[in-house]
Order: sequence, then structure tokens, then C-alpha cells
Amino acid sequence: MIYDELIRGARVSLRSVTTRDCNQNYITWMNDYETNRFMETRWNPQTEDTILNYVISMRKSEDSYLFAIVVNESERHIGNIKIGPINKRYNHADISYFIGEKDCRGIGYAREAVELICDFGFKVLGLRRIQAGVIEGNEASMGVLKSSGFLLEGKSADKCIIDGKYVAQLIFGILNKEANK
Ligand SMILES: CC(C)(COP(=O)(O)OP(=O)(O)OC[C@H]1O[C@@H](n2cnc3c(N)ncnc32)[C@H](O)[C@@H]1OP(=O)(O)O)[C@@H](O)C(=O)NCCC(=O)NCCS
Repeated sequence: MIYDELIRGARVSLRSVTTRDCNQNYITWMNDYETNRFMETRWNPQTEDTILNYVISMRKSEDSYLFAIVVNESERHIGNIKIGPINKRYNHADISYFIGEKDCRGIGYAREAVELICDFGFKVLGLRRIQAGVIEGNEASMGVLKSSGFLLEGKSADKCIIDGKYVAQLIFGILNKEANK
């Protein structure tokens, strides 16, 4: 799906990813071991075609939004954040994200992007809960979720393979405090 408005935060903003964003930077992020180590995309080499097809499929999707994370000051596109699939029956959705530009990590941009997407999910989409699955060992992603108010809700043992070994997936969730009980 496409959201036409800019979701503006103090330091970063979110805007829908377009086919114009499918450049060499994006391809490099997706093929970088440090960036894709805990992402499912790591199983296939990413090319201009795979990225373009993915962006087009997200724009046409009926249940997901893909946003670019953009630094306000420079308008630099530094990573992406997705909300979806959205379950409209039960009003919940998954999120996933990455900061591809390594010099932009560790300064709170992912935390701000997660907070912005949760605000969008709760206020604009009317969701009741948002969840994220994190592969055990991804300390940075766990740090982002904990600092954005997500709670660790559970652990699915032996759910994924990292570096040839089965590891757990941790489930994090956050509830909409404004939702009616
Ligand atoms: C996960 C990722 C998005 C974090 O981005 P980031 O911009 O560095 O995160 P932030 O600077 O916003 O950090 C938010 C919080 O996480 C903590 N954190 C960040 N990296 C951390 C690390 N390596 N270990 C422990 N905590 C960490 C920060 O201290 C901060 O906590 P605070 O608000 O209490 O100070 C980034 O490392 C990344 O893109 N990784 C590769 C892709 C990926 O794994 N995506 C998630 C898949 S589930």
C-alpha cells in the first residue's frame, strides 16, 4: 500500500519507498553480511531486479506499507521500515526494519523510526497491537524494541538458522494504550 503523507519525526521521517529508491546503495545494504545477517533476505543474493520487484509488490500490497527512513536535515535515505502484514480482523501487524548506512547506527534513528511507525499503526491504522520477531543474538534489534516500549512476550525455540546453527526467535509486542478494553 502507499501512504502519501510524510510521517515526520524530530530527526528522521518516514515516506513510502518508490522505485526511484532502488539504487546501488539499496542493493549494497541488502547484500551486506552485517546488515542482512538476521534478515530473511540473506538467503538470496539481492539485485536491482529483486529489489525493484519487492518495492513494486509492497506498493501494490493490500496489507503492508514499506517506508524509507530519511534524515530530516540531509534528506538522506538511510534504511527502511515495514509495517505488515496487517491483520484487519484482529487489528495487529508486524514490523521489521534496518539502517543500511552504518554511520547512522547507534544514534537513535532506528528507535525514532520504530516509534513513528507505532504511532502511525495505532493512530492512523487503528491497530491494537504491533509485534516484531527478533532472532536470538540480534542485540541491536532487541535494544531498539526495548527502548521503544516493546515487551518480550515469548520465545520460539529452534525457529531459525544463523551461521549454520538453530537459534530461537524472540517475540516482542506493544499494545495501543488508547485502545478500548
Ligand atoms: C537493529 C538496527 C536497526 C539498530 O539501529 P540503530 O539506529 O543502531 O539503533 P538505535 O541507535 O536507534 O538504538 C536504539 C536502542 O538500541 C540500543 N542498541 C543499539 N545497538 C545495540 C547493540 N548492538 N547492542 C545493544 N543495544 C543496542 C541502543 O543503545 C538504544 O538504546 P537506548 O535508547 O536505551 O539508548 C541496526 O543495527 C540494523 O539495521 N541492523 C541490521 C538489520 C537488522 O538486524 N534489523 C532488525 C531485524 S529484526
